[in-house]
Amino acid sequence: MDVRNGLEVRWLSWADAGEEILDLRRRVFTDELGWQEDRVRHGRDADGLHLCALSNGKIVAALSAYVYEPGAPELAAMRLPEIQGVTVEIGKRVGLATHRGNLISAQIASWMVRQICEALRPSRFFLIVRVSEHRHLIDTYARHGFTYHTEVGSGDDAIGVMTTTGKKALEEFYLIHRESTREGAAGPSPLSVPSLVRFLADGGRGSLLAVDRLATENHYTESFTLQAEVPRLTAQGKLILAEQRPRLAATPFPPAPASLLDIGTGPGDYLAAVSEEGPLKGYRVRGVEPAPQLLARARSAFPEHDFSDGSAYATGEAESSHDVVTANFVFIHLRSPDLALLEMRRILRPGGLLYVVDVNDATFSGPEVVRRVLRAYDRDYPGDRQLLGDLPRRAREFGFELVRRFSTTLRGAGVPEPVFGPDEIRIGKAHAWSLLSFIGSQRGLEEAFEEAENHYFATECEIGLDLETQVYRLSTDRR
Ligand SMILES: C[S@@+](CC[C@H](N)C(=O)[O-])C[C@H]1O[C@@H](n2cnc3c(N)ncnc32)[C@H](O)[C@@H]1O
Repeated sequence: MDVRNGLEVRWLSWADAGEEILDLRRRVFTDELGWQEDRVRHGRDADGLHLCALSNGKIVAALSAYVYEPGAPELAAMRLPEIQGVTVEIGKRVGLATHRGNLISAQIASWMVRQICEALRPSRFFLIVRVSEHRHLIDTYARHGFTYHTEVGSGDDAIGVMTTTGKKALEEFYLIHRESTREGAAGPSPLSVPSLVRFLADGGRGSLLAVDRLATENHYTESFTLQAEVPRLTAQGKLILAEQRPRLAATPFPPAPASLLDIGTGPGDYLAAVSEEGPLKGYRVRGVEPAPQLLARARSAFPEHDFSDGSAYATGEAESSHDVVTANFVFIHLRSPDLALLEMRRILRPGGLLYVVDVNDATFSGPEVVRRVLRAYDRDYPGDRQLLGDLPRRAREFGFELVRRFSTTLRGAGVPEPVFGPDEIRIGKAHAWSLLSFIGSQRGLEEAFEEAENHYFATECEIGLDLETQVYRLSTDRR
């Protein structure tokens, strides 16, 4: 348990904390604001998701969310039209006077929205405002992409229903909150917020998790053509294999024969090559890939290996069926790393290894004009290209202990051929730039990318980005 600033944040079930949350709401809603008792309770509290901040073990701030399946009568009562997918209501935000002004409830609100978007992938959010008391809030929520949908009742009792729905608005809503949790995490008083995925899975409510909706997403393939990408990946694979050789040798892999699953295996070249490396020789290897074109390419290029259709959230593999799971350049493309960790925990045998390789954009070094365009790209990318900094904390929640961590700086340094140092590879300037070429494909960034590119090639500057390898061992205790 991570406690900072004397505050601990937890998801709590109503069965465990309902009375205390009601007590807190009464102290604020009834005693301070003079509201009636009927506004203290919510009809769905028993099934609600309650994110609470605790000081010395006592709840000092809480926020609740309520999940509605299509057809729920409450939606009709709010005159909300039928849509596919779940609707989430956010409400009952409450904080003790002693803890107001320190942005605790704003921070937990951002964390709640972020985690709900990642774990549940809702199609709509709504919230209720009391028209007579909350006029100012209507503008505040409008700035967060909510539109005033409908008003129910009249006079002092009138309530306004504000919603945010539609792919674009929901994406922006998510990105705003992800950004503010990142800023909060980097700020002076970060809160450590545990995983909603873990809370739901452990509480027997895993059916709420959006595995099906997420399993059809592939943010990586949204913006490339196979003809351009396969040669790029193959070239990158050669460099990475050379970088990885000493990392693989320093990892305590179980002896062959053992079973390895590579998630997000792509065109198969890297898996085929790495399975020939010393520590993995003699392993049974299999690749899982969700993109049909890449899967077909892997199957036809490497008929001697086994490839199947599946995503990081639903691999299709049996429980405890692998000794090693690898994910090379995959985590940064995932909307919900926690759901992937849950699936990895399921398919690995206790004591098995999870081997992750990825870039971490937080380690970028280089001119400001390039940094700015990379940050702008990261802000709008649905995956988290800075995830590796936070992965050890997240993975721990799923029973993964970090046992090895390596990092190699890829540095564009004007050399004709790659030069390998112990924790650094110097590569040609153009080669280094090609690793950032994905930025130019993001809509709206074309001009800024061109400006950064011109600067990079017109000056003597260097750029660097770390490639991280993190090796985890799954606890033998499954809890
Ligand atoms: C940068 S490529 C890396 C491919 C390969 N691992 C390698 O190192 O060459 C990212 C891969 O992740 C896959 N991917 C994207 N979303 C995924 C998801 N949700 N589950 C599993 N794989 C995913 C893509 O289809 C693509 O094959």
